[in-house]
Amino acid sequence: MGYVGPRDARDVVLEGLRRLEYRGYDSAGIAVVADGTLTSAKKAGKLANLEKVLADQPLPAATIGIGHTRWATHGGPTDRNAHPHLSADGTVAVIHNGIIENFAVLRAECESSGVEFTSDTDTEVTAHLLAAAYTALPEGPGRLAEAMRTVSRRLEGAFTLVATCVAEPDTVVASRRSSPLVVGVGDGEYFLGSDVAAFIGHTREALELGQDQVVEIDRTRGVTVTDFHGATVQPTAYTVDWDAEAAEKGGYDWFMLKEIAEQPRAIADTLLGRLGANGGLVLDEVRLSDQELRDIDKIFVVSCGTSFHAGLIAKYAIEHWTRIPVEVELASEFRYRDPVLDRSTLVVVISQSGETMDTLMALRHARDQKARVLAICNANGSTIPRESDAVLYTHAGPEVAVASTKGFLTQIVACYLVGLFLAQVRGVKYEDEVAAIVADLRRLPDAVAEVLAGMDAVRELARELADANTILFLGRHVGYPVALEGALKLKELAYIHAEGFAAGELKHGPIAVVDQGTPVIVVVPSPNSRESVHGKVVSNIQEVRARGARTIVIAEEGDEAVVPFADHLIRVPRLPTLLAPVVTVVPLQVLACEIADTRGLDVDQPRNLAKSVTVE
Ligand code: F6R
Repeated sequence: MGYVGPRDARDVVLEGLRRLEYRGYDSAGIAVVADGTLTSAKKAGKLANLEKVLADQPLPAATIGIGHTRWATHGGPTDRNAHPHLSADGTVAVIHNGIIENFAVLRAECESSGVEFTSDTDTEVTAHLLAAAYTALPEGPGRLAEAMRTVSRRLEGAFTLVATCVAEPDTVVASRRSSPLVVGVGDGEYFLGSDVAAFIGHTREALELGQDQVVEIDRTRGVTVTDFHGATVQPTAYTVDWDAEAAEKGGYDWFMLKEIAEQPRAIADTLLGRLGANGGLVLDEVRLSDQELRDIDKIFVVSCGTSFHAGLIAKYAIEHWTRIPVEVELASEFRYRDPVLDRSTLVVVISQSGETMDTLMALRHARDQKARVLAICNANGSTIPRESDAVLYTHAGPEVAVASTKGFLTQIVACYLVGLFLAQVRGVKYEDEVAAIVADLRRLPDAVAEVLAGMDAVRELARELADANTILFLGRHVGYPVALEGALKLKELAYIHAEGFAAGELKHGPIAVVDQGTPVIVVVPSPNSRESVHGKVVSNIQEVRARGARTIVIAEEGDEAVVPFADHLIRVPRLPTLLAPVVTVVPLQVLACEIADTRGLDVDQPRNLAKSVTVE
């Protein structure tokens, strides 16, 4: 977070950090320049710890400031490793996201010229280098920006750097390569933030920055953007389509509960304007020509974590509707195995934040190999859609809880839209077939609302399961990714060991861990699903129950076959098989959230996790 303007920078920066808290962090710090002095404060732990330090030793009122919440990479989450880092002479303060890969060489260079380091971070080296570059430059406007360009050219890895300097009390300068950074433009005031949440309380006008760019925000000169060599760049301006209220809890105990409750609206907004009046789909924003879409002969879906689970669900729908082979890959694995890609390959990258480094690197690899890249993304102005050939935005609104919920459901819906659109353009489905699926998509918001209305029993169950040591999740067909997602949610929120299995795999090993009382949650496919998958899953429930499992069964209304084998039965509305994950996952989200809450844990900011994983 960076600020230049008439208000008290201490308040603006701290408020910005509070709004960015959701991204996950383990220390925080702030620096301001006032009356010819640069002062800073930093502390390990949550912002409250920093605020205590500031209450004891207040910083002076100032009109420029920078602030940071750090998620430790190089060096533990301690006071001394917290940002800002200051140059040895105390004239320059720097905050940094990302990893500077050549920091060891640069550090050795600084040490050989007598600099003593005071932290274990890769960041500190940039403060010393900036001070040295600044001193070497002639006096004049834009000197700090020029020093930032000089230093940035020497850095390897991914970084957003934000710096302030005692000699330029009206200027904050930043640099970005592969890490997020946006500029907020207010009335006579300017902001920098990892995302727009940092300044949404003050302005909705934002500027997107490109790769390898330096931005200067200055009280009189305004915003200047250049590349790393000083050539002026015109940044892309956009207006954020949500306001500060959307990023507040609105009466809920947790952001996650609010975001779960928002899912019917988020799905409706994601469908809005995309379902044509004649029953077809309208995806004008997918900037790929019909010919390009017809030429596709293979699809990869690439993403991480929960977004990867959305990709797994996408595979079933896209292959079934388009008959194009689809492979789903973890972004962190994708480029390292040299996948076969060419002009007729479509790579669909899915990312709620649009900033996940693994996904970004996979997308760059795909584009280098000449594949077409379509991003499914929630965060406007983020890097992944900017670098893709085409983008389909989910309209979930800001997702603040670290664990993704409405982001996930809207990703699944966006994947359906992509699959169906491809089928429509390629003419592999009759118009009335597309129209029938579109009609089913229209039912999704109400179906999710119906599930949410019946969650009291799940809350009750959460209290019963809160002391479990391990919980297993089983699913088959599209229920398998749902089982994986249920297990991930439980692990990340409740810190309970949880595993998701393809139900058919059970007898090949995992059934050995089932013991007396082991909770096993089973996502049951519709009795109308193909080739008796339903009957096989019902058999799987009996198999685990026979070995002592406590069965928790998620099944559609009217499925009576499961009743005798379910210790707990959670009903969801009937939907076509491929669309069922949109409803079956909802009880699992609520369950994980409520178990974590019962265990007294921080649901919105689970330990060790960051919302946007902007390092590889
Ligand atoms: C889990 C979760 C993460 C993210 C993953 C990818 O609840 O939120 O697993 O899904 O880090 O993030 P995005 O979608 O922003 O690329």
